[in-house]
Amino acid sequence: MPRDGHGRIIDYLRISVMDRCNLRCSYCMPLEGLRFVPDEDLLTADEISLVARAAVSCGFRKFRITGGEPTLRRDLIEVVAGIRAEGPDVEIGMTTNGILLPRMARDLKDAGLDRVNIHIDTLDEVRIRQVMRFADVQKIMTGIEAAEDAGLTPIKLNSVVVRGDNDTDVVELARQTLTRPWGVRFIELMPMGDGDESKLALSQVVSSEETMERIADSIGPLIPLPATHPSDESRNYQFSGGIGTVGFISPVSDPFCSACNRVRLSAEGKLLLCLLRDDEADLRAVIRGGGGVEAVSHALRQSILLKPVGHALDEGIHASRRMHEIGG
Ligand code: 5AD
Ligand code: SF4
Repeated sequence: MPRDGHGRIIDYLRISVMDRCNLRCSYCMPLEGLRFVPDEDLLTADEISLVARAAVSCGFRKFRITGGEPTLRRDLIEVVAGIRAEGPDVEIGMTTNGILLPRMARDLKDAGLDRVNIHIDTLDEVRIRQVMRFADVQKIMTGIEAAEDAGLTPIKLNSVVVRGDNDTDVVELARQTLTRPWGVRFIELMPMGDGDESKLALSQVVSSEETMERIADSIGPLIPLPATHPSDESRNYQFSGGIGTVGFISPVSDPFCSACNRVRLSAEGKLLLCLLRDDEADLRAVIRGGGGVEAVSHALRQSILLKPVGHALDEGIHASRRMHEIGG
């Protein structure tokens, strides 16, 4: 198992396969001024498979496909199949906005995807466009159903809580877990990128504590569940009689850096060592320089040694990349 310089076991790779997105949430993608990775700079499906093979050879066991929006990638099925080729035991999840799942969920499952996390900030058909600009609640719901029908379960839903936009909508989202087997998770807004929206983000953070109180006041007590895995970044709860779970992810108010087990691969093949810092290594250069599995595996292990101990949001430091380039 690869260990970083601080003794943490790193065995989880999040792979961003596409930096574009069809929804453009306000805190993730400004409408103007974005530069996208040109097609020729995106890692190909074969190159992603090579990184996955190298990662498995040095002890990685868990993968997540992210974006931007991964379903916009035409060869996504090939990407999934390429990772699945590393064996039946590797876990493969995907984070998506769900819009395109109705047409692909079954093929994704057949290619070896285990499950999906679907991003939905509110169930309110009007307010959703305040945060997820081009979203449509009904379409996302249809995507969730398609994922359930295809067996991409257990389904998790991610909601980023933004003060003034969806902070009161958390109640209806949480209520779904009374009757549906979903893990609904509320994420504290993180400042990303060097544009104005990162400053705005800081003023719109709603702490998990506040969100939790709001939910418990409206619906009833949240009963804590034991942690499933030390690196599970979500603190999970259940309502009495509920069948799903309600989780809180608190990167701002309660950082989980000391239990971090992950690194990220950007769509252009950079290994990103921390979500909230700029430290990175260029794996694409190793691959396109003719490096095979061993060279990539060596580069992975060497880079992981340099993984920062944690973020420094309280010192005003955050990554200059935006979330659509990183994948959460
Ligand atoms: N802060 C917190 N979470 C974010 N996400 C996107 N942008 C932010 C942000 N600024 C989450 C979304 C998405 C996942 C990839 O990251 O919920 O599902
Ligand atoms: Fe797209 Fe997700 Fe970013 Fe929203 S948060 S713009 S759905 S990648």
